[in-house]
Amino acid sequence: MAGEPGPSQEATYEAAPNIALVKYWGIRDPVRALPYNSSLSVTLAGLATRTTVRFDPALPADRLRLNGRLADGEPLRSVREFLDRVRQEARFDGFAEVRSRNNFPTASGLASSASGFAALAGAAARAAGLRPDAAALSRLARFGSGSACRSIFGGFVEWRAGHRPDGRDCRAFPLFPPDHWPELVDLVCVVRGAPVKTVRSAVAMQASVATSPGFAARQRALPARLLRIRRAIARRDGARLFPAIIEECDDFRAVCEGTRPTLDYLTATSREILEAVRSLNRRSGRPVAGYTHDAGAHVHLFTLRSDLGRLRAALAGIDGLERTRTLRPGPGGRYVARRPGR
Ligand code: DP6
Repeated sequence: MAGEPGPSQEATYEAAPNIALVKYWGIRDPVRALPYNSSLSVTLAGLATRTTVRFDPALPADRLRLNGRLADGEPLRSVREFLDRVRQEARFDGFAEVRSRNNFPTASGLASSASGFAALAGAAARAAGLRPDAAALSRLARFGSGSACRSIFGGFVEWRAGHRPDGRDCRAFPLFPPDHWPELVDLVCVVRGAPVKTVRSAVAMQASVATSPGFAARQRALPARLLRIRRAIARRDGARLFPAIIEECDDFRAVCEGTRPTLDYLTATSREILEAVRSLNRRSGRPVAGYTHDAGAHVHLFTLRSDLGRLRAALAGIDGLERTRTLRPGPGGRYVARRPGR
């Protein structure tokens, strides 16, 4: 990537969050942002972060507005650090104003650093005069947040860890488009009183690498598990997919819980939801649904449209379940044209 940025360049990019079915958890090289293991996710439709970056020679420092409010502290620090990388790549000096909005309530628990850094990467790169293709954008986004490299692409996305020390074989790419499996839905369960995440996953996962006794065994189990999950998606086979994502989520959680100090992301309600799914699958004598969660208390339930009613019924009576939202796989990131007169 190279570019010839001029003053006051502005660009807007929109990207959606993604939910991992195979979790990225562990960084093998922080300088090159290389993960220990490959991961696989679904980019979600209907949710988006839209970010505008404007480089302005008159600005005395970088400025960040999140949902209309000036931000400081850790969000501003990590945005600045990311902008420094872009400025370095574009061989360009000058501060930027960053305006970022989510089209979903920030307190809904659906906010993610993935959509945030994917949108920032797209907007900052173009505003700085770079013209990255999707692969280069994904690589850039990875330095803001690992999971962001998957949000550049739509549908079902794999982030291959690669083996090379220089990281040249580490890349994310789309596996299947958003309309690959129209029957598949993600029932997002927003739980009441979910604690706000205070430690970034990129930090927490390194504590797991250093202290969790299950980390090594997880690494050994992952390649075969990812293959099973990819195959089940390819064949649109819920009976194989749902137990496999439960196994993966349980393994991820066990590694978190084995970390010292322990990482406990769930609330009692989250655990009730997981148990309701296990019990539904047992009672039905078949895998009706699969669950997964990231480093937070909200739970994503994957099922087929035809089983959505059954799944909802199984959740009835869980007090702390604030609300649910049915999501589908959606498109990857895109540039948004500036409206005339703005
Ligand atoms: C559990 O790359 O999103 O969601 O930006 O520091 O929060 P931070 O890290 P991030 O970590 C993702 C961890 C995960 C699993 C996943 O999305 O693959």
